[in-house]
Amino acid sequence: MRLAALKEAPYAFGSTYEREVEFDDATWQRRVVDRVRFVVEVDGEVAGTVSGGDGEVTGAAAMTAMWVEPRFRRRGVGEVLVKTVLEWARGNGYSRMFLWVTAVNAGAEHLYLRLGFVRTGASQEVRPGELEYEMSREV
Ligand SMILES: CC(C)(COP(=O)(O)OP(=O)(O)OC[C@H]1O[C@@H](n2cnc3c(N)ncnc32)[C@H](O)[C@@H]1OP(=O)(O)O)[C@@H](O)C(=O)NCCC(=O)NCCS
Repeated sequence: MRLAALKEAPYAFGSTYEREVEFDDATWQRRVVDRVRFVVEVDGEVAGTVSGGDGEVTGAAAMTAMWVEPRFRRRGVGEVLVKTVLEWARGNGYSRMFLWVTAVNAGAEHLYLRLGFVRTGASQEVRPGELEYEMSREV
């Protein structure tokens, strides 16, 4: 799923398909231990995924690797994923949730705004000449 996401929406992520396709099994296994990985299923088909883990500051969580398979978009799957990772953060004692969204990804930013995230004012280059913005909300 992660490789499909990187291939389908390269504009949305800091990492690349070319980088991650080289990962060995041990790396993939470590990645499902290091961070929590959720999937949403629709009629038995995997429709989307999101990850959660420690953020950069104490008490903060970070939401990453959010992707909905194109056939299932605009049906509320993304909203379920965000709400699920917020619920996970709440249950694990985090007080804030952070994420990064690329400047070209207005659709995703719109979803995050609708669900209570606001830009923190922090930005960074995700690729040469291309910015991403940090957003956060209380959990
Ligand atoms: C962003 C993404 C996860 C949204 O998933 P989704 O299942 O379509 O989201 P939902 O159906 O729950 O919510 C849709 C809402 O998000 C916003 N939205 C989503 N895509 C949008 C788009 N292309 N243009 C404008 N608004 C958009 C709207 O507010 C929309 O609500 P509406 O359909 O009532 O207008 C999905 O488009 C995706 O996987 N994109 C590629 C990867 C990506 O951008 N990941 C996020 C990295 S930060």
